[in-house]
Amino acid sequence: MKIAGFGVEEWLNKWEKSATYDISQSTIASMTMKEALSLDGQDGEEFYKILDQQKMNYGWIEGSPEFKKEVSKLYRHIRPDNILQTNGATGANHLALYALIEPGDHVISEYPSYQQLYDIPKSLGADVDYWSIHEDQNWYPDIAELKALMRPNTKMICLNNANNPTGTLLDEAFLKQVVALAKQSGAYVLVDEVYMPLVDSERFVSIADLYEKGIATNSLSKTYSMPGIRVGWTASNAEIADLFRKYRDYTMICCGVFNDAMAVCILKHRDQVLARNRKLVVNNLKIYQQWLDHEPRASVVMPQAVSTSFPKLTIPDDIEDFCVRLLKEQGVLLVPGTRFDMPGNVRLGYCADESTLREGLKRLSVFLRQYD
Ligand SMILES: Cc1ncc(COP(=O)(O)O)c(C=O)c1O
Repeated sequence: MKIAGFGVEEWLNKWEKSATYDISQSTIASMTMKEALSLDGQDGEEFYKILDQQKMNYGWIEGSPEFKKEVSKLYRHIRPDNILQTNGATGANHLALYALIEPGDHVISEYPSYQQLYDIPKSLGADVDYWSIHEDQNWYPDIAELKALMRPNTKMICLNNANNPTGTLLDEAFLKQVVALAKQSGAYVLVDEVYMPLVDSERFVSIADLYEKGIATNSLSKTYSMPGIRVGWTASNAEIADLFRKYRDYTMICCGVFNDAMAVCILKHRDQVLARNRKLVVNNLKIYQQWLDHEPRASVVMPQAVSTSFPKLTIPDDIEDFCVRLLKEQGVLLVPGTRFDMPGNVRLGYCADESTLREGLKRLSVFLRQYD
């Protein structure tokens, strides 16, 4: 099976450990174990007491009942039975695609977005069409273009809502138009929902609540600041969940007793985690906006309180060379837009801790002055 290299991951694997000011990432500043375990006010005392007695067997294969119950609360209509725990959202996307896509299937994927959503179906032998997003349309794709791409046998439409790298949220009215088109061919709609807006989050609607053949994938890695525990999930109808169970047994078994316990802790204290992160996002957005107001070589379609953004940089140099020199000379890491096939832009993750963001932006501006 052939597959393209994963552009963003290859870039981060090579450079992220050499960054002093990493403003390339899309997670909202990760929590420490101490921070996570202090959410219940007991500094982990109860957590470790239970865990100390816990056998490190496989635990709950699909995720513990508590985990499933907490996750199902994130949806309007999804029952705990229809939540399956996975190794991150990456594992969830892989599971959905592996279970449903066969050679010759027609798949339409939002582009650019998370590379799994087009290169895994391609590697499985699907015929993949790109549904492009447009900077001059607030990074929305165009419904008329989707209509033109649809075929009577379209098997799946893949979206990333909100989008990585742009931070754009597709609203309910728009998603309903996608669903109406999907219904014409009976296509599944797979939506990677790891980025939820932290302000006015009720604007976000899960595809699993909108469409019978909607599959939502998600995790605790971005909005919930815990990528280290590698816990994600799929949310779908019962029939699709049963199909996923079959494929899941071959690829992962479970996520581990410890990771499940941590995930339950985070989900049970969801309101506190979201309050922490809302504060960070709102504060950092202000800093980011102030920087943009004074930086003539950068412009951006503002992300919608989602932890990733995709500014355009007006520079004469190759963007990869620029990013490597920026890192070597100023210690600042960005992801060049080439990793999303858009060389005019960079991914800028403004949800690092405040001091990293401030110094990172300051140094980026110092570096940009070479072109004045
Ligand atoms: C859209 C999207 N989905 C999934 C992931 C990976 O998520 P996880 O850490 O849960 O596997 C990322 C990470 O960058 C992402 O941007």
